[in-house]
Amino acid sequence: MKPKLLVARPIFQSVIDDLSAFFDVTSNQPDTPWTPDSWQQAVAGHDAALTTGSDPINGNVLGTNPRLKIAANMAVGYNNFDVPAMTALGVTATNTPDVLTETTADFGFALLMATARRMTESEHYLRAGQWKQWRYDMFAGAEVHGSTLGILGMGRIGQAIARRGAHGFGMNVIYHNRSQLDAAIEIECKARFVDKETLLKTADHLVLVLPYSAQSHHAMGAAEIALMKPSATLINIARGGIVDDAALAVALKNKQIAAAGLDVFEGEPALNPALLTVPNVVLTPHIASSTVHTRMAMAKLAADNLVAYFKAGKALTPLNQLAPKQVDLSS
Ligand code: GLV
Repeated sequence: MKPKLLVARPIFQSVIDDLSAFFDVTSNQPDTPWTPDSWQQAVAGHDAALTTGSDPINGNVLGTNPRLKIAANMAVGYNNFDVPAMTALGVTATNTPDVLTETTADFGFALLMATARRMTESEHYLRAGQWKQWRYDMFAGAEVHGSTLGILGMGRIGQAIARRGAHGFGMNVIYHNRSQLDAAIEIECKARFVDKETLLKTADHLVLVLPYSAQSHHAMGAAEIALMKPSATLINIARGGIVDDAALAVALKNKQIAAAGLDVFEGEPALNPALLTVPNVVLTPHIASSTVHTRMAMAKLAADNLVAYFKAGKALTPLNQLAPKQVDLSS
């Protein structure tokens, strides 16, 4: 008997077809929205789940589904997983690192440039028929090349953004991270470690790439934003909740900082309505890794993790190290 797999959200049909060779697949291709109850019930009776960053595998879901052996997240971030609870119950957790690093860094840089150079604000003006003549100061933005790029969270994506800034745009790169990187990586990224306060006070463009956790909740709140330069831009491609969006909207309205670019939001897909009332913010719907090539690579890696677990007893990119759970496929 094949193991039972739940695919939580629509993914490429070719990946579902490949998975069907190994699994008895229940897939939510119509994208029926889950409630906490319907999600919990849907997981029940499955050996495996292919999730996205909005599908929780937490104590409640685990408690009602002792059969679950592995959840493969189609995302590099995994704050939708309670990894300690999964580990305690012998449930393997996986994510999709590496395959999205460069694509996400491209997007982070695009958002930085769109924000600093006021691209969406000026496009809205043009589309609204307000452009009557050229003016010397029209949508004058902030310089990108040669400016100071600050990165908060210097993992793989942060490093890829640093390389773009340092080598492509001649930027002076500073970063803050839980721990300082090896000297060889700092040299390659041309990046200098500073404390968080120096980062906030010095950066012309600050990019957030740190994982979300209870510790990083509101890492950028009113007090932190107040330390930034009035000419600075703030870019969040990490997770909603790292920035206090309400405080940011106030800071943007009061021109405490020049502009922000946000791909992630607290409580997304809902967003703080105040963000829609300020012109100096570029808003995108959590698409930093969204190229066809990369989304396919993410889906395939999530699928490969599931197949490897059941075929070889070991997932490819596990977040916890576990002996495989007894695979009983009799029911
Ligand atoms: C996207 O946000 C991801 O974590 O992959």
